[in-house]
Amino acid sequence: MEIKVFDSPEEIASVCADEFTALLTSKENCVLGLATGASPVPTYKELVRRYNAGVISFKHASSFNLDEYVELPRNDKNSYYTFMHENLFNSVDIDEANVHILNGNAEDTAKECADFDAAIEAAGGIDIQLLGIGTNGHIGFNEPSSSFSDGTFKVKLTDSTIKSNSIYFTENAMPRYALTMGIQSIMKAKKIVLIATGASKAEAVKNAVKGEVTPMCPASVLQNHPNCIFLLDTAAASLLG
Ligand code: PGA
Repeated sequence: MEIKVFDSPEEIASVCADEFTALLTSKENCVLGLATGASPVPTYKELVRRYNAGVISFKHASSFNLDEYVELPRNDKNSYYTFMHENLFNSVDIDEANVHILNGNAEDTAKECADFDAAIEAAGGIDIQLLGIGTNGHIGFNEPSSSFSDGTFKVKLTDSTIKSNSIYFTENAMPRYALTMGIQSIMKAKKIVLIATGASKAEAVKNAVKGEVTPMCPASVLQNHPNCIFLLDTAAASLLG
């Protein structure tokens, strides 16, 4: 695990966008693992800027998003479908047919999850997986638990996650369940880039980087990934010593 510390979210975005640029310009049919939340927003802004400048194209790329809420209409302002379109897809040349976002309204969620993992395999596996980290150490919606999850699955969200994300749900109740790529789905990515900013993430970052590898801090599993970078600001890195 490589740790890089920066002064600002913009510097992190630039370095993270460099990782995507290197991939997009060297492998036409590359497979992107994408994340939602506040952490990746500056990176998506930078990728849109580079797309507009003619530096990168998403024309032949595919994307797979980490997670989606269950039983939230796809076009709800807080769905991750909406988030990804507003923050990236509507502003670049990605082919909608190559965009994969879990359907949290699928009748058969087990099938939806199995089909998602199969689609990742069929695309050749994820080249770069972007991650945020929850204040409780979650990655995707893999919440602290007694065991590491395997493939994509339906998860009950913890109180900590509901508290963190309910600020966005001003008009309707926040869903209590989500579909998420599992720990093993995430660990199969060829490269993983995790972004964490702000003091609220410092404890989770410390546990992920310096603590024991335990499903009680799901991000700690990344210590076992052969090609993983943490991009942190000084506040998120403040407990690393
Ligand atoms: P955030 O969420 O980027 O909005 O802080 C990260 C996460 O919960 O995984």
